[in-house]
Amino acid sequence: MSEPDVDRARDGGVRLSAITLNVNGRSRRLDVDPRTSLLDALREQLRLSGTKKGCDHGQCGACTVLVNGRRVNSCLTLAVMRQDDEITTIEGMGRPGRLSAMQAAFVERDGFQCGYCTPGQICSAVGMLGEVRAGWPSHATADVSSARIELTDEELRERMSGNICRCAAYPNIAAAIRDVAADSGADIAADSEAAGVDPVPRHVAGHAAADLPADVPADLPADVPADVANPERGPV
Ligand code: FES
Ligand code: FES
Repeated sequence: MSEPDVDRARDGGVRLSAITLNVNGRSRRLDVDPRTSLLDALREQLRLSGTKKGCDHGQCGACTVLVNGRRVNSCLTLAVMRQDDEITTIEGMGRPGRLSAMQAAFVERDGFQCGYCTPGQICSAVGMLGEVRAGWPSHATADVSSARIELTDEELRERMSGNICRCAAYPNIAAAIRDVAADSGADIAADSEAAGVDPVPRHVAGHAAADLPADVPADLPADVPADVANPERGPV
């Protein structure tokens, strides 16, 4: 990892660090207070307000983004630590009229109400399915030695437990994730039908199967300013 240029600039007596962040496939130069979280750098400096600030303490998941394909709470990592990493925010997932598979599933399944947690839910869900495919066990995994992870309802709840939804849209969020998981080949528990969840995705025709990083279209503009999860309302 290259070192930030700590002495390049000053602001109010605080030395700023000149860094480069790779966000949504685009290299962005910025000067940051070394204490700036990745979340604040994205929202306040790069104007990518799709990533939300909820608790700012790593407890709600609203700020989840993907870093090198892995989900990360952006409020808990410093921007200066993320040079040379590949960062994907909700703006890099898709856009109105060209949603990623997970975004389309959330729309189809009505997986949100106010939408505030939704960007984090979507980023987290994409990262979570990658973890399942990679065979990473969770606290709910019965047999941690098995290479095959069955995405039971318990597994899904446990793996998404870091993303809080104050509107309690959980059943529809789970249904959306199940749709994408089924379409992309992640293991689905037999109890999904019993739970009333249609294991066959009805909405994903025309969308790429979610995978890491295949769920993220490669040719999207890097800094779509609109709030993708709630394009009608604009930045929040
Ligand atoms: S804002 Fe980062 S976890 Fe809540
Ligand atoms: S949709 Fe409102 S907090 Fe989740």
